[in-house]
Amino acid sequence: MKLPVYFEKMLKQAISARNNAYAPYSKFQVGCCIRTENNLFFAGTNVENIAFGTTQCAEGAAIGAMITAGERKITNLLLVAINDSPCTPCGNCRQQLSEFAKPNMQVYVCNPQGHLQTIKFTDLLPYSFKF
Ligand code: THU
Repeated sequence: MKLPVYFEKMLKQAISARNNAYAPYSKFQVGCCIRTENNLFFAGTNVENIAFGTTQCAEGAAIGAMITAGERKITNLLLVAINDSPCTPCGNCRQQLSEFAKPNMQVYVCNPQGHLQTIKFTDLLPYSFKF
């Protein structure tokens, strides 16, 4: 599938965020960039804590920035870490993203060299929790 014009911008922002990760415990830096329905971009990175369960993922940080700016609907997400293998959102992040994902949200799975795979969000989390 052809990548959209904004793909490179998302990759740049995610890598730049990842380079600022606070990950002294896992040493696994992750960067995320989300694009909203209004064509706005928000990046985030992981923020670890000595109480490991308190760690915030890159996706959560990007969502926080998006909400703070008044945006609510995500059309695209890009995730990149530090290794060559694909990094996909963890289970918690999938549920968190499902709150704000547009029906056809696309997830660009990348490594530091570039694009690996495009996955529809609903393929990552079918039947997400709702009530
Ligand atoms: N991490 C993310 O930032 N996003 C994910 O979807 C998976 C995991 C971070 C959390 C932690 O700082 C590190 O990766 C190792 O688990």
